[in-house]
Amino acid sequence: MPSTVVNPGLEGVVVGETVLSNVEGQIGRLTYRGYDIHDLASNVGFEEVVHLLFYGALPAQAELEALHRSLAAQGALPESTLAILRAIPRDAWPMDVLRTAISSLSHVLPNDPTGAHASGVDAAFPLVAKTSTIVAAWDRLRRGLDPIAPRPDLKHAANFLYMRTGEEPTPEQERALDTYFVLLADHSFNASTFAARVVASTNADLYCAVTAAVATLTGQLHGGAPSGVMDTLEAIVEPDRAEGYVRDLLARGKRVMGIGHREYKIRDPRAQHLDAEAKELAQQVDSRWYELAVALEQASNKVLQEAKPDRKLYANVDFYTAPLLADLGLPKDEFTCVFACSRVAGWSAHVLEQYSHNRLIRPQATYVGPQIHALEPLAQRAASNGQATLRRSSRARDSSSG
Ligand code: COA
Repeated sequence: MPSTVVNPGLEGVVVGETVLSNVEGQIGRLTYRGYDIHDLASNVGFEEVVHLLFYGALPAQAELEALHRSLAAQGALPESTLAILRAIPRDAWPMDVLRTAISSLSHVLPNDPTGAHASGVDAAFPLVAKTSTIVAAWDRLRRGLDPIAPRPDLKHAANFLYMRTGEEPTPEQERALDTYFVLLADHSFNASTFAARVVASTNADLYCAVTAAVATLTGQLHGGAPSGVMDTLEAIVEPDRAEGYVRDLLARGKRVMGIGHREYKIRDPRAQHLDAEAKELAQQVDSRWYELAVALEQASNKVLQEAKPDRKLYANVDFYTAPLLADLGLPKDEFTCVFACSRVAGWSAHVLEQYSHNRLIRPQATYVGPQIHALEPLAQRAASNGQATLRRSSRARDSSSG
């Protein structure tokens, strides 16, 4: 007997099991394989998190040193991907470019008779390495500059910043980005990760799954939010205009970007680390983005608690991402790409986990379209005048409500 419960956003629906990360939204706790995100953010680097996600344990010293070297070595892009990047119009949206370039990585790899490419952990490490190289390469190409290859002596976060500018970042810049990468690496069955797992569940390969994940991350309700936060900070101009701006947004039925979360009903645990890193960076580069963000968060808390007292809407991970990435010199239309540079680790780990005990993910839908009826001969059909009818028909609605 098919289920009659319809849950379009899958809220509260458990669709699988994972050992990778746990989001406890009510108490604001995030763990990767049992390690609290607060401990990880303060004590380990991104490479250690990648090792933890892929192998189940933090690396020992020798393993970590080898990983630093191998990620840098695996970051170089195939010539065919560089050629594709060079052919893309310079005003293309960076996430569109990333989606295309990630997809192209498999062109140079051998495939099996089904067309799939090797998708084990040996494929996942280079994918993590190359994602950052693609984002940095596009950043340079769109500015009319040649891409720079990763440097073997730099760690992953430092390499990304170096590949953009050609200059070694300061220790503060490197730490800020490394902390960001640690915090964003995984987040259970978020939309892009779920998309990757759906693709993997069909036995499609890692490149297909991660391409779908990049596409899913693009949306403003997911990875597109930090650039929306930046738009808001730019529009506010002065901290004391934040409250009026938020009131006006709500009056127009709009949302405050970087605020609210499907899982967290208190401030996102990652926000406090991004807040601290953004504050320190702002002092280094003498920027006002952090000050504006603090004013916006205070204004949002006040106005949203008045307007929607029963909703618990607080800063999410994307909120302080905006001043942090802006103060690292990144343009706002690349923020989501930088998110992908970290989350590719989580996507890949989830894809490997999906393969390890796969079952095709194939949910059901309740049909609410017209009841079965006779086919109209061509001569008797009324013109639809280009009007799409994607709403539920009243007949179907009536029949489904019984
Ligand atoms: N600003 C204003 N109101 C918000 C809001 C925001 N950022 N986020 C949620 N709300 C309100 C909705 O309008 C809705 O109010 P209503 O029931 O009175 O109509 C209520 O809170 C619940 O919203 P809903 O969309 O059902 O919650 P959700 O769990 O699906 O939303 C998000 C989660 C993240 C999609 C949502 O909070 C949002 O759109 N945030 C802004 C975008 C963002 O920062 N995305 C990054 C997420 S990490």
